[in-house]
Amino acid sequence: MSINDISIRRPDDWHLHLRDGDVLAAVTPHTSVDFARAIVMPNLVPPVVTTGDAAAYRERILAAVPDGHRFEPLMTLYLTETTDPNDVAAGASSGLITAVKLYPAGATTNSASGVRDIKKVYAVLARMEEIDLPLLVHGEVTDEEIDIFDREAVFIERVLDPLRRRFPGLRIVLEHVTTADGVDYVKSSSGGLAATITTHHLIINRNAILAGGIRPHYYCLPVAKRESHRAALCEAATSGDSRFFLGTDSAPHVDAAKETACGCAGIFSSPVTLGCVAQVFDNHGALDRLEAFTSLNGPAFYRLPANEERIRLIKHDAPIELPASITTADGGITVFDPPIDIHWQREQAAST
Ligand code: NCD
Ligand code: ZN
Repeated sequence: MSINDISIRRPDDWHLHLRDGDVLAAVTPHTSVDFARAIVMPNLVPPVVTTGDAAAYRERILAAVPDGHRFEPLMTLYLTETTDPNDVAAGASSGLITAVKLYPAGATTNSASGVRDIKKVYAVLARMEEIDLPLLVHGEVTDEEIDIFDREAVFIERVLDPLRRRFPGLRIVLEHVTTADGVDYVKSSSGGLAATITTHHLIINRNAILAGGIRPHYYCLPVAKRESHRAALCEAATSGDSRFFLGTDSAPHVDAAKETACGCAGIFSSPVTLGCVAQVFDNHGALDRLEAFTSLNGPAFYRLPANEERIRLIKHDAPIELPASITTADGGITVFDPPIDIHWQREQAAST
């Protein structure tokens, strides 16, 4: 008998871009309606570098949460070569800072202030290891000679593995893992290493971007890889392995910045994520492990309690009509359009 109705603890999003200003105001409700907490990425322009920056950004996020939504932003700091270990430690001990994000300089959208020489951040990493503050890594090398489809695997070999040997007690999340190499590396670790997996990398492979015309709204970084890698991500996500959890990497850009000769990387998936992820788990016969991926494994890694509140997901006979875009004062933002039918939807609150 097929399952048409499930109840899970309210999910969290362990990797999210909320931006600032008008875009922040427009996108935040699409997360806070479905997610209790989110790890908020610090790659604003200028980036969220200090505890003071993070405190101010947190206030701006909270101001964008609609009345009646319960949502807690979990703040991160953008690691630079001049980050002060004492500021990081103070932010962590006050409870404001949940993690620190390492962007190799130039790896992705708004990463110009990232790290060029990893040795320059060893003092911060040593302090984080000491105080047990997780490091989140954008796992791609930026070396022009490395093929863009190989940049994650090369990062693991050249940067991540040596880093883990140097700081064995530092807990690390390989963010938005996109390859079987990354999945295997995480599975081979004996603790302290986890990975987030995005909504879109569970659903599209690189054909979606390039076959039959170039489709900028499927372009993100790390770029989607070939089908065998997508299959490895689905296997990892649906396996129940506690080292893998949902980080949507929902990364809104206005359409004008995507539909141009040199378009930005980033896929905006918050409004459709829950239905998409439930559908992927259903297609793999793994609905009984959905809650682990969306609501249990992440809190366990971050040593936070799982949410007590529950949500209900309903499977409809006909495919759900998903929103194509949202409007913002800065322009429209296209929503991730999964190239599979989605039958699952969060039960809508009864209107009174
Ligand atoms: C992100 C963004 O737009 O900020 N883009 C993306 O393609 N994922 C940055 C990132 O997480 O790499
Ligand atoms: Zn991201």
